[in-house]
Amino acid sequence: MAQLTGFKKTKTAVFISGRGSNLKSLIKFSKTKKSPITINLIISNYNKSKGLEFAKKFRIKKKIFNFKKRSISEKEILSELKKKNIRLICLAGFMKILSKYFIKNYNGRILNIHPSLLPKYKGLNTHERVIKNKEIYSGCTVHYVNYRLDSGKIIMQKKVKIRRNDTPNSLSKRILIQEHKLYPKAILKIFNL
Ligand code: GRF
Repeated sequence: MAQLTGFKKTKTAVFISGRGSNLKSLIKFSKTKKSPITINLIISNYNKSKGLEFAKKFRIKKKIFNFKKRSISEKEILSELKKKNIRLICLAGFMKILSKYFIKNYNGRILNIHPSLLPKYKGLNTHERVIKNKEIYSGCTVHYVNYRLDSGKIIMQKKVKIRRNDTPNSLSKRILIQEHKLYPKAILKIFNL
């Protein structure tokens, strides 16, 4: 991602819908010396997202857009992003699907984290499906966002072995620990660091 490298840190927005544990790990990472990004904006489609508490805690600006009319919310978000000079978007548990129009505006500069070894198990309820299919491994993937759901170019993955007595809940907890490490690593990778 050559156009993002340079002396100054890249202004980044994180999009969330819920708990925000990946947001928290990204904020912590962004405060390290080696981080090529700063997190300047948190966007949520839901005003009760638990993750919004991190906006207050870390004094980061937050904005909520309800997505009742996606095209309107997206236009408002784009203007906010441009105003703040945001150059990179990290989706972290963001449950809305962005339009082609939106993605085109940030082409190659939107990342997502997904709790499976893509291209397997796109979409929702991954852990349930993985266990039901008696997979040996699952894991997590950081990828670029393109027009098709969970289908953009893969940046990095981490495998997690499934245990005999795993439930969707126990597996999701172990994968989440890896997600928190993988997202920062994938960001370093796209900046060639
Ligand atoms: C994570 O498992 C992420 O991979 C998926 O949604 C979950 C979000 O969790 N896209 P959190 O809000 O970051 O805690």
